[in-house]
Parts: sequence; structure tokens; C-alpha cells
Amino acid sequence: MQVPKHVAIVMDGNGRWAQKRWLPRVAGHKQGVDALRNTVAACLERKVRVLTVFAFSSENWSRPADEVSGLMELLVMALAREVPKLEANGVRLHFPGNRKGLSDKVVQGLESAERATQHNDQLVLNVCFNYGGRWDVAQAAQRLASQGIEITEASLSQAMSMAHVSDPDLMIRTGGEQRISNFLLWQAAYTELYFTECLWPDFDAAELDRAFADYAGRQRRFGRTAEQCASEEAAPVPTGSCHA
Ligand code: IPE
Ligand code: IPE
Ligand code: MG
Repeated sequence: MQVPKHVAIVMDGNGRWAQKRWLPRVAGHKQGVDALRNTVAACLERKVRVLTVFAFSSENWSRPADEVSGLMELLVMALAREVPKLEANGVRLHFPGNRKGLSDKVVQGLESAERATQHNDQLVLNVCFNYGGRWDVAQAAQRLASQGIEITEASLSQAMSMAHVSDPDLMIRTGGEQRISNFLLWQAAYTELYFTECLWPDFDAAELDRAFADYAGRQRRFGRTAEQCASEEAAPVPTGSCHA
């Protein structure tokens, strides 16, 4: 079965998971960390090369202050607990997103996790934090403009916060909503989308396998016809290759 090389996940539904149990929303986020730990292990086993997860969006600052501070504390705690294990398992961490607006403590946590895992090569784990797809395009364009570099698709891609990895092959969104919510807008141009009702804290290896089985049945055409993709002579396209 064709396993996607780069999987992106919008980890949604933590709040509803908690509310169903009469728990505070932050309890759902805590359980969400466990689901992420299990998903990382499942991706390592399945030889996925890159896992990119949406942990906190540019828009999530609009939530109640106690939920925002709860998420910040949870991030710092989760890093302290998980980074040694991730390091030992060959996972390389990156935190694409805007560092401005984050506290010094959070920024130190992100930087030290990136440093501690920088030599790893089994799985790249991008935890998008204070990330927005529009922010990413704008910051890349600003950077090129300030350096006097012409803006092209290639130069913009190189200036984006996801330049260190290929574009996602599959994007999973849990929690039942069918929208992108300002995740990887530029990078998801040809990503296969998969939506599931499963709430993020309930997500597990079996759910991941369901998404992978669905992905394996897709034909990625990148603008070409189905017949061209089926033919072995199909000219290679820059963004990826066809598979049935
Ligand atoms: C996703 O779960 C996690 C974050 C946005 C931080 P939600 O907190 O959005 O959960 P629901 O959508 O309210 O259930
Ligand atoms: C998207 O979920 C962001 C993350 C999962 C971090 P949201 O719950 O914030 O998205 P909307 O508001 O329902 O679109
Ligand atoms: Mg949500």
C-alpha cells in the first residue's frame, strides 16, 4: 500500500471531546497530547517521513484567556516530558509559526527542542504553533522584498516556514469540520484531503490506517488526465508523481 511521505493533520475536536465528558476544554487538549504521541509512534512504524500537525493557529488567540494560557502551559510541559523520548526515537522537531507574540519561556522551549533533535532523521515532526497559512505567505514575501529578491513560486517556497520539507501528500482533519482553517494554504495546493468525524483525542493507529487506505485509492493527477497518469510515459511533473 502506498504510504504518504508527508502527512499533515488538523488536530480538531479536543474541546468537544472534553465537553461531552463534562470536563474543562483544557482536559481535551491534554488528552490530545496523548493522541499525538500515539500518532507519532504509528507514523514511525509506517515509515512516514514527515508529520506536520496544527497545534495553535494565528486565530486561536481569540479564545478565552484561560484556554490560551492552558495551551501555552501544556506545550511547555509536553516538551519537557516528550522531547527526550522523541530524541531517542530519531524524531526531528520543527515549530513553524510566528515566534512574535509567544512568551520567552515558550520560545526557549521551542528552540531548545529544535536544537536537541536537530541530528535526527527518522521522522520530521513539524508542530505548527502560532501558525497561519496567510502569515506564512506574507512573511515569506516580506523577507524576499526586504532582500530585493524577485518573488517567484520557487523563491517564495524557499522563504516559507515549511521550506525544509516537501509539500504534504495527505491532509487529515479530525473533528468533522470540512475546512482548512488557515493551515498550509500554499503547500496544500495538491494535497489529498481526508475528513473524519473522529475527535482528535480518540484518534489512533486504526484511524490513521483508514486515512492511509483511502489515500492509497486516490489518483493524484496534478492537472493531467487520468489516461496520462496511467501511462508509464507520462511526463514527470514538478510537484510530484502520479500513483493509482
Ligand atoms: C483543536 O481542538 C485544538 C486547538 C484548536 C488548539 P478544539 O479546541 O478546536 O476543539 P473543538 O473544535 O472546540 O471541539
Ligand atoms: C484549527 O482548529 C486549528 C487547530 C487545530 C490548531 P479550530 O478549531 O481553531 O478551527 P475553526 O475555528 O473551527 O475553523
Ligand atoms: Mg476546533
